[in-house]
Formats: sequence, C-alpha cells, structure tokens
Amino acid sequence: MPYREDIPGYMPKKDLEIIETLAGCLPDNGCMVEVGSYFGRSSWAWAKSVPNSCMVYCIDPWPHSDLVQGIFDASLDDFKSYLKDCPNVIPIQGLSPHVPWDENRLVDLVFIDGNHFSPHVNNDLKFWSKRLTSAGILCGHDFNPNRYPDVCEAVIKLSQELKWPLRIFTDSTIWYLERNREEFSFNNRRVVSQRLIVESMCWQPNEAQLEVLRQVYQKHV
Ligand SMILES: C[S@@+](CC[C@H](N)C(=O)[O-])C[C@H]1O[C@@H](n2cnc3c(N)ncnc32)[C@H](O)[C@@H]1O
Repeated sequence: MPYREDIPGYMPKKDLEIIETLAGCLPDNGCMVEVGSYFGRSSWAWAKSVPNSCMVYCIDPWPHSDLVQGIFDASLDDFKSYLKDCPNVIPIQGLSPHVPWDENRLVDLVFIDGNHFSPHVNNDLKFWSKRLTSAGILCGHDFNPNRYPDVCEAVIKLSQELKWPLRIFTDSTIWYLERNREEFSFNNRRVVSQRLIVESMCWQPNEAQLEVLRQVYQKHV
C-alpha cells in the first residue's frame, strides 16, 4: 500500500487513498509541490504513488508543534527520517509562498495543506496557481466550511476567477481545481483515464450551494 499510517499526521486513511489516486494524474517526468508536510504522512503517500520519474518538493517551515493534538515538534530531521526511502522527495524548509522558487519552473500538481487561514491560504493559492503547467492540478486538504471557512472561501473565489472547475472528493475534504486536460487527449492515455477516474470520485458544488456558502462568508467579514 502506498501510504503509512505509522507516520504521525492529519491525513486519514481515506485521504491517503485519494492521494494515491490523484498522484496517478501526473505525467511521466512531471513534478509536484506539497505545501505543509509536517512529519511527512501525506508526503510519503505522494512520493510512493506518483510515477517513478516524478519529483516531489515538500515545503514546511519545520519544526512544527501542535499542542492541541498532543503531537510535538515535527523537525526537518524527523521528516527526512520518515522519508528516507523516497529518493524523489526534496524538502524545502520555509514558509510558502516565500521560498526560493525558479520563476520559470512549472509544476503538474500542487497540494496545499499549510496555513489554513486568510490571508495565508489565499497567498498560497494565488502564487501556486500561476506556477501550474497548462494541464496542471491545484488541490488541497480541509475543504471544511465549519472548521476552515477561509480555505473554502479562497478556493471557491479562485475557481470562479480562473474558471477552473472545483471538485471535492466524496466523504473527504480534499478539493481540486483542474486547469484543463485537452493536451493529454491523444498522447497520454494513462493520464486521461486516471483523470476520468478521479472525476468520478468527486462531487461539484452547484451554483445554489456556492451562493449559500458565499452568503455565510459575507456575514463573517
Ligand atoms: C495540517 S499540517 C500538514 C499535515 C500533513 N500534510 C500530514 O499529512 O500530516 C500543516 C503543516 O503546514 C505547515 N505550515 C504552516 N504554514 C506554512 C506555510 N506558509 N508554508 C508551508 N508550510 C506551512 C506547518 O508547519 C504544519 O507542519
């Protein structure tokens, strides 16, 4: 199984399985970025599920403590130790989006699970949406209107601004925006069929549902 439940973290088994499926949407020789890696629970799942030729850049300020959850000090050394059998992972220590990143380096997929509050989540979405390949996928964790309204608000806003359809995995809080997939149609059947599978595992909020969410957010401004 390409996930490890013994690595501490915030990713339930169902979401690790979704990561496995989403990872199959990357083309060969692609690359992806994870924002918010903590001990590396989701990072390990990405690293083992993307095609062998893909690189996974993991951004986190490390160390990170979570006194509420009772999990302490995820250090960079902890991360490296859990990920030691993943040669395709490159950790970047720092706060996204303020990390050194080559302007011209485009990525096939970005998974956002860092700071879940405004303006940080908005900054991440804005920055990384501009660094996607033309068929790239922007996705993330915690589309949860009760616990993380800022995440939902930022994701819905970006989806509407860019006209990239928003999908949310059923029984999960993993969301994704897909730029387009047309360029894969003829030359990469694996990616096209994987993207269809992913789509079939999701629901799409309709206009009425989005309007309700927008009104809720306006009342909290
Ligand atoms: C919810 S945890 C990530 C959980 C992880 N993906 C897992 O599988 O367990 C959030 C992480 O984001 C990191 N973080 C907070 N702000 C960040 C930022 N601006 N850029 C990158 N990481 C950030 C924290 O240090 C923390 O480790």
